[in-house]
Amino acid sequence: MSLDAYIAGLPKAELHLHIEGSLEPELMFELARRNKVAIPFDSVEAVRAAYDFSNLQDFLDIYYAGARVLLTEEDFHDLALAYFRRAAADNVRHAEIFFDPQTHTDRGVPFGVVAEGLLAGMKRAERELGVTSKLILCFLRHLDEHAAFDTLHQAEPWLDRIEGVGLDSSEIGHPPSKFQRIFERAGQMGLKRVAHAGEEGPPEYVSEALDLLHIDRMDHGNRSMEDEALIERLAASQMTLTVCPLSNLKLCVVKDLKDHPVPEMLRRGLHVTLNSDDPAYFGGYMNDNYRRLAEAVGLTREQVTRMAKNSFEGSFLSGGERAARI
Ligand code: HPA
Ligand code: ZN
Repeated sequence: MSLDAYIAGLPKAELHLHIEGSLEPELMFELARRNKVAIPFDSVEAVRAAYDFSNLQDFLDIYYAGARVLLTEEDFHDLALAYFRRAAADNVRHAEIFFDPQTHTDRGVPFGVVAEGLLAGMKRAERELGVTSKLILCFLRHLDEHAAFDTLHQAEPWLDRIEGVGLDSSEIGHPPSKFQRIFERAGQMGLKRVAHAGEEGPPEYVSEALDLLHIDRMDHGNRSMEDEALIERLAASQMTLTVCPLSNLKLCVVKDLKDHPVPEMLRRGLHVTLNSDDPAYFGGYMNDNYRRLAEAVGLTREQVTRMAKNSFEGSFLSGGERAARI
């Protein structure tokens, strides 16, 4: 069996997926029409042509603009279901998906519209596709602590159906320390905690995420590889890293996939998983991330198997639930 076929057949969990980043241009056009929202593109091809980024901020500007077509519960349901259908085709059995409520509430879309729509899509995906999922509420780190507290307050009626909190958006200039108190509060409320760290930001941000935010899982973590003591710490604690190869390539975190740090991370004993981040913008879903990285750096079948296993171990599924997914 070829490695590609082996990858396709492996059960996988996706742990780093922004649901707004799964908005394909075709659905963007459909929702723009349905909701009579103007978008600055003439065609699906023109949208795809605009996806040429030189850094994280370049991407974020377009990603937030694209999200403006999402207005109703039905829109969020359709967005989620489209992602789960695509993920199921890649044999993703479980997904822990991020959403950015502030991107929507700041446009006047109520928190409940976003949450109910996504939860309905998740329920249907479990029923129709057998893909289970959990929801992670991300705070936008370019906004302030007060806005994050306000968002957590708005989320209260849905917190029994939200697994945890995360931290995303523009990293440089917005260190984890800015969100220490909201993460402390989330921990007291029994929520899991994850954060993007070391995507563009320095290794110090990774240490802050560990020491000040007490994260259960780290999103990206690439720049940890610049700090020997940090590598050893991450290996010793078996902290799960949700690495996103095609995202790293599109956002110029790596110049070439051949330079990707995953082989070195695995060699150093880090608990690495592969994920698609914002697949509609970065040109590939789960299996594309595995295949293209495997091709570029020469992953072995054992390494691929290890990362797929890590994805279930690093998930927030309980032991029993986990066994049922594999
Ligand atoms: N990094 C930070 N924020 C994000 C990303 C990302 O890769 N995707 C969506 N929001
Ligand atoms: Zn991300």
